[in-house]
Amino acid sequence: MNVQTANPIAEAYRRDGFYFPVRAMSAEAAAGYRARLEAHEKANGGPLKSAMRTDVHLLFTWADELIRNEKVLDAVEAVIGPNILCWITNFFIKEPKDGNYVSWHQDATYWGLEPHDQVLTAWLALSDAPVESGAMKFLAGSHKTGLQAHADTFHESNLLSRGQEIQVEVDEADATDVPLKAGEFSLHHVLMTHGSHPNTTDDRRIGLAIRYIPTTVRQTKVRDTAVLVRGVDEYGHFDLLDGPDADMSEKALAVHKDANERLVKALLSGTDETQLRD
Ligand code: NI
Repeated sequence: MNVQTANPIAEAYRRDGFYFPVRAMSAEAAAGYRARLEAHEKANGGPLKSAMRTDVHLLFTWADELIRNEKVLDAVEAVIGPNILCWITNFFIKEPKDGNYVSWHQDATYWGLEPHDQVLTAWLALSDAPVESGAMKFLAGSHKTGLQAHADTFHESNLLSRGQEIQVEVDEADATDVPLKAGEFSLHHVLMTHGSHPNTTDDRRIGLAIRYIPTTVRQTKVRDTAVLVRGVDEYGHFDLLDGPDADMSEKALAVHKDANERLVKALLSGTDETQLRD
């Protein structure tokens, strides 16, 4: 029997385009990871900025642990099979009442990956992420409608790199709220139409989006990097990276800089922007 049809996570994912919640770790363990992030922020003058929010797994040993979390990988494997690359990570952090939001969008429009529909995002909550904190919203079944047209807005309060917004009317009443507790994660399909509202609570909302792909996927825009987190890579479509030897070491910073430059080239090709923004 095909393991992908036997698993309830895979079934729901194929039907709805998402699955949640799944617990990756205890609330205490999640608080421990949050403390390590915030210790770094405190020592460096405030919240992680722009490029530092991308590919934190190449900068911090604790973030490298997160992309290899066994509970997360078990759920990912149920959907995309046993040979798994972590392509990129993005922290999506909303400060209390900072007004930042994420416009309705599909991710696949600007990533350059082929086939474009094989990317799976695990969104791991390091703080509680109730609806009021600007939790993600999903449009069930939207992963089946194919790629829709998007327009780049580059709006200031938009957390997306290009402020990209889907050009179809989304009825909020049809959306599914995705509240998570610290230590839980959701999975969503790369064609899932999703977005989120501002954080109206008094706590930060901290989530790490981890983008996983099967080793069969290619990057069409640049020679890109990835980390093999489970199984074997028999394709060699990406330059494989090791985790950092130490937090923010010289070597880790150099690897991160190189990976980020390739990514920026891929994500921003076709626009006039020269760097990613929060
Ligand atoms: Ni997205």
